[in-house]
Amino acid sequence: MRNDTGRGLFITLEGGDSCGKTTQIELIRQWLTELGITPVMTREPGGTALGNEIRALILHGPEDVDPRCEALLYAADRAYHMATKVRPALTQGRVVVQDRYLDSSVAYQGTARALGVEEIRELNMWATNNLLPDVTLLLDIDPVKAQARRTRELDRLEREPIEFHQRIRQQYLALAQAEPERFHVLDAARSPSEIQADIRRILTPLIQSFVIDGQAQS
Ligand code: TYD
Repeated sequence: MRNDTGRGLFITLEGGDSCGKTTQIELIRQWLTELGITPVMTREPGGTALGNEIRALILHGPEDVDPRCEALLYAADRAYHMATKVRPALTQGRVVVQDRYLDSSVAYQGTARALGVEEIRELNMWATNNLLPDVTLLLDIDPVKAQARRTRELDRLEREPIEFHQRIRQQYLALAQAEPERFHVLDAARSPSEIQADIRRILTPLIQSFVIDGQAQS
């Protein structure tokens, strides 16, 4: 295990806006449940009561949230989320499926907001006491195609120009290249069922020890 509790399984999903994470996460939940595993489903920003307050501030607060302030708000949410929810769940041996983690901050704040990849990584390693996921699934899609999928009202980050989203995509791909043992890059322009089939193939060997004759370990 890469996560430093030595227990549980920490799975994160990453990708640009409207890459289809929500659909895939729900399909993962259904699949794990069928296998007798009750995963902890969580997300950033959010995932805790305090986190949801921070989430509302960042995504729907004033237009002029300064980039450094934005980076610190995400990191504060993450610090609390890891300390109070995710780390305890892993220590108990649970499977955690999380929508976004520190790679989001590296791509969005580090690169797209130009605050620096190393600085943002270090800030977040400190905030989380160095907790890395066991596996990160990157849903990769051209932002132009992703934007065409959007139907609901846009939040503050989604309203950024297309170049902002292109930078995020390139940074994610660079992160995946730098850590190939943690990242799996999935072509997210395909159908949801094709993407899900790949995800299940990737996760199957990792979840074996959590399944005993179709029943999850306690
Ligand atoms: P959300 O509605 O959760 O979007 P999505 O479904 O695409 O995950 O909004 C989260 C937004 O916050 C999204 O635009 C990415 C951004 N974000 C950051 O900029 N930095 C971060 O560290 C995180 C976790 C998210």
